[in-house]
Amino acid sequence: MLQVLSALLWSVASTAPDAHGANPPRVLVYTVSAGYEHEVVRRAAPDELSIVERALVDLGSRSGAFQAVVSREAAAFEAASLAQFQAVLFYTTGELPLSAAQRAGLFEFVRSGGGFVGVHSATDTFYTVPEYGAMIGATFDGHPWHERVSIAVEDPTHIATQHLGERFDFVDEIYQFKAPYSRAGVHVLLSLAPDGLDVAREPVHRQDRDFALAWTRPFGDGRVFYSALGHRPEVWKDARFLTHLAGGIRWALGDEPQVKLSPEDDARRSFALAESGNPRAGFGVFKRESGPMCGRCHVVNGTGTEVGPDLSSVALRLTQSELLTAILAPSAAITHGYGAVTLDMKDGTQIFGRVTNESETALTLIDTTGTARSIAREAVLARLASKISAMPDGLAATLTNEEFRDLFAYVRTLKAPPPTAVEPK
Ligand code: HEC
Repeated sequence: MLQVLSALLWSVASTAPDAHGANPPRVLVYTVSAGYEHEVVRRAAPDELSIVERALVDLGSRSGAFQAVVSREAAAFEAASLAQFQAVLFYTTGELPLSAAQRAGLFEFVRSGGGFVGVHSATDTFYTVPEYGAMIGATFDGHPWHERVSIAVEDPTHIATQHLGERFDFVDEIYQFKAPYSRAGVHVLLSLAPDGLDVAREPVHRQDRDFALAWTRPFGDGRVFYSALGHRPEVWKDARFLTHLAGGIRWALGDEPQVKLSPEDDARRSFALAESGNPRAGFGVFKRESGPMCGRCHVVNGTGTEVGPDLSSVALRLTQSELLTAILAPSAAITHGYGAVTLDMKDGTQIFGRVTNESETALTLIDTTGTARSIAREAVLARLASKISAMPDGLAATLTNEEFRDLFAYVRTLKAPPPTAVEPK
């Protein structure tokens, strides 16, 4: 172990200073296999890094965004050790040899603002520790495919996926997940595009055919990034995967592109982050039939209209700063599946809104006031996906800083446990 660490320190010390100066954030890379040991984490000799360890050390030093420090020692999870890191990365399997106190130390580290990055079999880990599943957001449920698949990029604005286009082909072992996985509780970045794949074969369990492959979520004040990719050795040489992983690590370390807001909205944002508001008063603002009228377009706990996503669990899947961006600059990060369209009509007019239903002859479209109407297909000349959200910008303009702070305090309480009704067998 000492030899490994000194080899590592040498490689880090030999790289040029970077954007973070001499002290980039430190990421603890832990690759212990208590279950199946993947080829990519196997060390040829005790003092030689595995493929994963080598790749992460190189990725950190090349990008200058972080310093990867490898360890396979349980002692790395003692509080005094964890205090020297800004994030922890797991490529692990099984019931890891960490004591209850060391596990609690890890959860506390993340809850209090640390980053956690899970790669591939990090979901095939700690089945007997429910809090671990609650943190990472899913449990491994087999790998029905190992072939070339098509992967859909659900969030093309995220730093972990913005280089991947709308879709890409990839050869790897592909996981499926069971509870606690729920789309309500994670912000999905990548998912399997089922076309051309046998989604009915054994051992495909998910009836809802929801095969998310990478996501983010908050955990307390900390940030969790998970990617299911990374089984095959050649994946660790694939620039698309490495950029995806580096972006996920940066996000877990708190690096998130800040959207430019008006000075007024910027003041609302700072005020809402600095002061703890009153969620009850905020619920009043949310439901009010004047001003931003959030309740007109969103369902919460079963009531409201679904122009936008159901917000009952939104604070489980978005961090505080992501929630603020979603509210203050909706067009900067449009939720997958809730994009708006512009219809060019044959009579020369244009209609803007979100399509909520389609039949062979008509579409139902909800406009930005939350009003639904049915439109005959034959009256439509062209249909264009819009870069503008159906949730209007500038919604908070009519609110005082105090009202906005309270509204945000309310939105942050929206953590209804995700439904497990669709849990696969
Ligand atoms: C005119 C309808 C409309 C109104 C009014 C509206 N929203 Fe939205 N909202 C949407 C749509 C559509 C989306 C999805 C597209 C997007 O992400 O911009 C959305 C997305 C969101 C999201 C992101 C959800 C996710 O799962 O990613 C949040 C949070 C949100 N809205 C909160 C609010 C709040 C708070 C208000 C009141 C200030 C509000 N909305 C008012 C239509 C609306």
